[in-house]
This record gives sequence, C-alpha cells and structure tokens, in this order.
Amino acid sequence: METKNVFAGRSLCVIEDLTIEERKYLFSEVRILKQAMQENDLQTLENYRIDDKDFGVYEVFLEDSTRTKESFRNAANFHHVKVSELNSDSSSFNKGESYADTFNTLSGYSNTIFIIRSKIEGVCRWLEDECASYAQRNRLWRKPAFINAGDGKHEHPTQELLDEFTFMEDNDWKTDSIHLALVGDLYHGRTVHSKAAGLKLFDKVKVDLIAPVELAMPETYVLKMQENGYEIRLFSSIEEYLSQGDIADKWYFTRPQLERMGDRILQRQEELRSAITFRREFMGKLMEGTKFYHPLPRHKVTPTIPTFLDDTPLNGWERQSINGMYVRIILLALIGGKIGSCFVPKEIPVEESRAEYIFEVDLTQREPKDKVVSEGVQPIHNGLVIDHICRGDTPSEIRDHMRLISSVLGLDEAKGGEWVSRGHSDSNSYKGIIFRPDATELTRKKLKRLAAVAPGCTLNIIRDGKVEKKYRMEMPPRIYNFDDLSCTNDACISHPSQSEGVPAHFSRTKENLFACAYCGKTHSFKEIWKSRNK
Ligand code: CP
Repeated sequence: METKNVFAGRSLCVIEDLTIEERKYLFSEVRILKQAMQENDLQTLENYRIDDKDFGVYEVFLEDSTRTKESFRNAANFHHVKVSELNSDSSSFNKGESYADTFNTLSGYSNTIFIIRSKIEGVCRWLEDECASYAQRNRLWRKPAFINAGDGKHEHPTQELLDEFTFMEDNDWKTDSIHLALVGDLYHGRTVHSKAAGLKLFDKVKVDLIAPVELAMPETYVLKMQENGYEIRLFSSIEEYLSQGDIADKWYFTRPQLERMGDRILQRQEELRSAITFRREFMGKLMEGTKFYHPLPRHKVTPTIPTFLDDTPLNGWERQSINGMYVRIILLALIGGKIGSCFVPKEIPVEESRAEYIFEVDLTQREPKDKVVSEGVQPIHNGLVIDHICRGDTPSEIRDHMRLISSVLGLDEAKGGEWVSRGHSDSNSYKGIIFRPDATELTRKKLKRLAAVAPGCTLNIIRDGKVEKKYRMEMPPRIYNFDDLSCTNDACISHPSQSEGVPAHFSRTKENLFACAYCGKTHSFKEIWKSRNK
C-alpha cells in the first residue's frame, strides 16, 4: 500500500531531523543498495535512481572537503540528475550578497536539493524556512530541501548517518547497546557533536570522552548526552584511559584543529597531540574485535591513527568512508521521493510546545486574605508591582537582575524602586520586588518579555489601592520575536556580526536552558538577556 512519502522534500540540518525509526529504515535501504553495488545487481540499483535530468542537486561548499563533497557528487551522478556546484570564489557572495538571496536565486533555477558546507552555523535551518517562502511567492514547482554537509563546530548529520551505519554493520545490525570512545578534538569536532543526539539510536549508550581539557567536549553537548541518558566518563589522554580496566570496543578519532586555538595552544601542540594519538605500545591493551573509526581526513605528518594500523583488523575507517557514498545515495533517493513511500512511521514526531505560560489569576475566586507586606515596602496606590523575582538567588544577584528587568521592560525612567526581602513562605530564601507607582498596564508583548526575563514572578496591577489584575509568569517554551536578543555564538547565522538579518529564536530544553534554533548553543535565560543589544 502506498502512503504519503514522509521523506520527500525534507531537509537534514541536524541528525535529530530524522527520527530513530526513519534512520533505521534508511539503513535497511543502504544495506540493500550496498549489496546490489557489490554484486553489480543492476536491476535492484535501478529501483533507487531518481533518473530525472531536470531534478537539480546543487553543491555549495564554502569550506574545503574531499569525502563529503565527492561522495555526494558521485551519489548525485548515480541518480542521473542535474548536478551543479557553486564556485564560491567567483560568486556574488563576494559582493556582500546574503545567504537567503543567494539560495533563493539558485532555487529559482530548477534546483531541489542543496548540499551546503559553511563555517556559519545553522545556515540550513534558516534557509529551509526562508527559501520555502520564496518558493511559495514565486510558485516554484518544488520547495527546496537543504542538507547540512558540516556547519562550523555545530553538526555534520550525514557523517553521523554513515558512522551509525558502520557501527551497526560492526554490531551485527543490533542496536541494543554501544560502548564508544570519542578521542581527539572534541571541542571543534562537529562529527562528535552530532553524536550527542545521534547515538540515541542505541538503547544503552556508554561514551568515554578522551581529550585534554583544552579540547574537551563543549558543555552544550555533554548536557545533551546526559539528557539522553548516556553514561559518560572523562579521560585526559589515551594513556590515562588505558590505565583502567573498562575499555570500549569502538574508538572514534577526530583530527585536532589546534590552528584555530591561538599561539598559547600551538606552543603546546606536541603534548596535546600526544595525548590523543594512538601508539604501537598501546596495542596489547585493546580487547579482541576492537574497531577504530575516523571521519577523516587524517594529517599526513601527525595522524592520530598512525598508518601502521591501516593493514590491521582495527581498521574500520576505510569502510566507514566508503559507506559514505551508499548512505548519501539513499538519502538523496529519500529526499527526492524515489523511495520511502512504503514507510509508515510508528513514532509521531513531538509537536513543538505551544503551552501557555502567562496566567491571569482569577481574583474573584480567591479567599480574602490579610494583607501581608514585605518588610520595608510601602504599598502603592496605583501602578505595577512585580514580585517573587529570582526567588532563591543571593541578594546581589537579585539586585543585578532587577536592574536588567527594569531596562528590558522600559521601566528605567519611571518612578519607583526595587527591594530585596525574605519570602513569606520560606524565610531562608530571598526574592526581589519591583514597584512602579503610576506605571500603566504592560502590553501583551511586554508580558511575554517579563515571563522570559523573570520566570516565576507575579505581576500585580494596582488601582485605587487594590489588586485589579494579577498574572503568574512561568518559563516560556520559546524565546523569540525580540529584536534586541541574539545568540551568543558569534559563528551562528543569527548572530548580528553575520549581518544575515536572522532573528534570534530559542527553545527550552528539558534542563530549562534555551537552545538556539540555528546553532543549538544552550543558554540560561539570564545569559540571553545579559547579552542583549540595547
Ligand atoms: N569526513 C569529512 O567530512 O571529510 P571531508 O572534510 O573530506 O568532507
């Protein structure tokens, strides 16, 4: 039975854009294709070809690449489609054209799938929405899809697909558990960052992070691994790792990118490289059946997997690299709608939360209570009182944050004051109160700003000495649509320094942090507001 093809026209910006069961389906097709390729089974191969000379696949590589670019080019050639490449050195990028204008233009020339590598993080996510509007405005036949071929330090989802396929191949196709050592430059390595969500493919995940502190995994990804229930252990060198008894059977090496880290690190490069480079003397400590992987390239002078290992059973990286083309052929076949119609998802993707977070308290239902006024506070007759601010923080943290709230709400010029007092219900914790006599009711937009800058607070509108309205503010599921906010990652497409005009957009994580919708960087709500552009 044919159903709606859930893959057709989709973008792959981060690995989580494909659910676990979608990835398993993709891998089952890769297995069939790989075997057909190896056996030259032409009839089976024909089932996968898009075979449409008007179907445009466009490669835009703004950073160097061999494997990703060439395996995608060969995958696209397999499909007998139109394959193009933007020469970025002579493109109008050099005249200051934006990403949106560039890709809108190219999508107007009958191109359907764009494969993009860029230093700027979150490009594909931005273009996915932006170019969909362009396609609609201009009645283009197909909405373009975007494949992230590596964006800065963020993610490399197609590398993650081929890594997962290779791990499964070496796991006898089982996904019950994986024990993986991630070795090398975990700070810059986007391929290991994709593993924070990607390894959820396996039911039980144990990850050993092996890197000196200068090259350690960023907190955003460690938190994500924890949220996903991975068991995580940290080691500063391979030597330290091998000195204990519980050693992974799969090792994933990455290339140190020390050139990005300034002179202080470069002076110590030998020591740092040594901590993450495998040596002949370590061989005896590995368990039977161990495999090494590497996204490649490896450096010809200082490889972390030395070439003497090429001709040993440890070598999983060559097959991993070859698998890249098979995986990418299937990915293009799915996005191009050639295959996938028979896939019926059991997992329903979770809708983004649109839960309410500003609650007006029904004052008619409240029992009359004796008026309790915090010590030192003189009740106001008319105006606004924002109470329960930063409950539990120290008085100086609360004072700092109240100054910020006042500025965020445009209340700096109004009369009134700020106060720190002990809570009535918990006399051990402090809370802040802002009062602004004569200030008028906040607009809906300002209420949203208040919830985002002071979650947990209450807002009282006082008229003639009485509480006329009362709102309780919870932490919003998203923070967006505020012009003065931006992601703090200067490599993110939404950072003002990129001048791409991309508005900031954050979504709340399970840990009550806010992840940038483009680059994934997590922030506390205070960090977002502290870095606002006034
Ligand atoms: N693995 C990988 O992304 O290699 P390239 O940089 O050669 O594309």
